Amino acid sequence: MKPRDRLRIAMQKSGRLTEPALDLLNRCGLTFRQSRDKLFCFGEGEPVDLLLVRDDDIPGLIAQGVCDLGIVGRNVLNEFKGTAGDGAATLTEWRSLGFGRCRLSIAVPQDVAYNGPNDLSGLRIATSYPGLLGTWLREQGVVATTITLAGSVEIAPKLGTADVICDLVQSGGTLVANQLRETDVLLQSEAVLAGPDALPTDERGDMIELLLKRLDGVIQVRESRLLLLQTSRNTLDAVTRLLPGGPQPTLLPVAGQPDQLMLQALCAGEVSWRQLEEIKKAGAREMFVLPVEKMLA
Ligand code: PRP
Ligand code: ZN
Repeated sequence: MKPRDRLRIAMQKSGRLTEPALDLLNRCGLTFRQSRDKLFCFGEGEPVDLLLVRDDDIPGLIAQGVCDLGIVGRNVLNEFKGTAGDGAATLTEWRSLGFGRCRLSIAVPQDVAYNGPNDLSGLRIATSYPGLLGTWLREQGVVATTITLAGSVEIAPKLGTADVICDLVQSGGTLVANQLRETDVLLQSEAVLAGPDALPTDERGDMIELLLKRLDGVIQVRESRLLLLQTSRNTLDAVTRLLPGGPQPTLLPVAGQPDQLMLQALCAGEVSWRQLEEIKKAGAREMFVLPVEKMLA
């Protein structure tokens, strides 16, 4: 294959991962000229282009060297690694990206009793993930029949083509709509940046390293919150103990109120209402949770 001097990233053409993936690349300073109904988007500024494809095709395109990286669900990547032949095992999850979270689960008709994986013995299981299902069944020591379907897996029990299913669950809405109930989780999934085990040794390798650094910065900032609050000195310990993880908080005096302190803490993830209410109970007041836009340590 002819060496390329531009990096090529494969991502889903239209689906749940498309918008957040483009948004993430934009935040990393990558913008693209072509309209989105095209297969190929030329990168402006940086030498990075996009290939918009079916998500199931992404791991294969990387394995063949047609693309250098891909943004794809862990479910699709692992299914490929488990079922494809030579070369497939060399694909790696370079980063998990924190969006497109879902799980691959077994679901059974609501009115059927279920006491554990052994109850699947001898049943027909419909799925689009025969590789992942097969591995899990072997681990469980269960022998069942896998019915591989490209889509609409959730209606198979109603149609009588399968007894239970193994499918992706996000909100759970699809299961409820089809009178199914989730029983076992095989895989927790989210969007990941996939690539070959080893970086290319040419300029594309340098570009991938640069992109990974930017991604780390973007992901860190996206998940960071700045928590501001006031507390009196005697409740400081109790309040500090409840703070969500992160570096040591900064304490500032409050003018004219010597027993009061202003506390500032960088938190590594969301701060929920429940956490705020607990911290308030411990003695905090005037609490603010602020998003972080940029960070340079
Ligand atoms: C997935 C999956 C389920 C649904 C689950 O399908 O196959 O049908 O999403 O989501 P929920 O729990 O929020 O209802 P998707 O919409 O990605 O389409 P596809 O599987 O046909 O590609
Ligand atoms: Zn899909």
